[in-house]
Amino acid sequence: MSIPLPPQPAASSGSPVNRLLIGVLAVLVAAPSVSANTSRFRGVNWAVLGDNFVDGPLILNGLDESDDYDTVRAKADAVYAGFEDNLAINTIRLPVNTHTVSSTWWDAYAGVIDSATDRGLNAILGYWEDGAASGGRVNNVAAWDAMWDTVTDQYGNNSLVHFEPMNEPHGYSAAEWTDMAATWIAGHPSVPRERILVGGTGYSQDAKPVCADRRLDGTLISYHIYTFFYGQENYDGWVQTFRDGLGDCASRAVTTEFGAPMDSGLDYSNADSADNFVQYLRAVTDVMRQLNMGSTYWPGTGGKITQGQSDDWYSIQKLHGSGTNLILTTPNPSGVNRLWHGWGPERVQ
Ligand SMILES: *[C@@H]1O[C@H](CO)[C@@H](O)[C@H](O)[C@H]1NC(C)=O
Ligand SMILES: *[C@@H]1O[C@H](CO)[C@@H](O)[C@H](O)[C@H]1NC(C)=O
Repeated sequence: MSIPLPPQPAASSGSPVNRLLIGVLAVLVAAPSVSANTSRFRGVNWAVLGDNFVDGPLILNGLDESDDYDTVRAKADAVYAGFEDNLAINTIRLPVNTHTVSSTWWDAYAGVIDSATDRGLNAILGYWEDGAASGGRVNNVAAWDAMWDTVTDQYGNNSLVHFEPMNEPHGYSAAEWTDMAATWIAGHPSVPRERILVGGTGYSQDAKPVCADRRLDGTLISYHIYTFFYGQENYDGWVQTFRDGLGDCASRAVTTEFGAPMDSGLDYSNADSADNFVQYLRAVTDVMRQLNMGSTYWPGTGGKITQGQSDDWYSIQKLHGSGTNLILTTPNPSGVNRLWHGWGPERVQ
């Protein structure tokens, strides 16, 4: 990479020492503006209601197992239109698993991917633990390989589609997981590295081992942070925790999961709030903005069902309607404002 020198002040440019100092200064000043960043990813997750860890086909919230391709596309168009209108997303993170891809549901499910890319959305396809996996490990590697061969054959040439070999690979040691990721990359040489997201270790919560492994150079890193990983912290603690998990890897990392309650009336615009969720969400969105990091909030719709409710209290959108008449609404505008704050000045509204 070539780094342009700033204009040199005439009076002090003569001596070799001054030239050296100016050169060092130019490197220090120029480095941040040429650094890579992931702020191009501004999105949410679309998940199964009840969560994506299913031992069967992935029927995302709003879809029905009997839907054909055209119906899935029509529903996906309605859901994406809601995400675009209410949140200004340009990215959607979607699950895949072996049951989905090896069954007839795949023919219909392709509608959620095709609809996304036809609208110009980036799609991130992440593998969720299914019957071919348990305890955060893939136990049927043949089924997992076959799944990825199908998915990359179908979408490898679509520059909007990104591949995340495994969500939250928490059953592996760092060395095992980086070996596995390196094997995945070697096995899919035609997939450009900038379209591969390698999960951090654990619950995708430590980016450093992935970042340090030269075999994984050029890939993106999928990074997660939730309050329930760490408990109660104040604002400064959350800033530190977020940065500790990232190490020096922000330029490659996308926060593909983070989230907090959106239907319990919390005011995320209140910097003085003592609430752990408020402090957490304010801190992580501040740091993502500072570091020019992209993110996909968990969840846009779908996800775990909160006790006593019909959906996940973290959902940043509420899904209404039936059939293909699906409508999304915003339960907590202060939460959306933090999402946008995290996306930084490059977001399009
Ligand atoms: C981030 O990267 C994009 C290219 O993907 C570039 O246009 C933008 O200027 C960068 N932003 C910062 C703040 O470095
Ligand atoms: C992807 O592109 C390559 C090279 O242009 C081509 O050989 C291959 O058939 C394409 N795959 C698909 C699924 O279109």
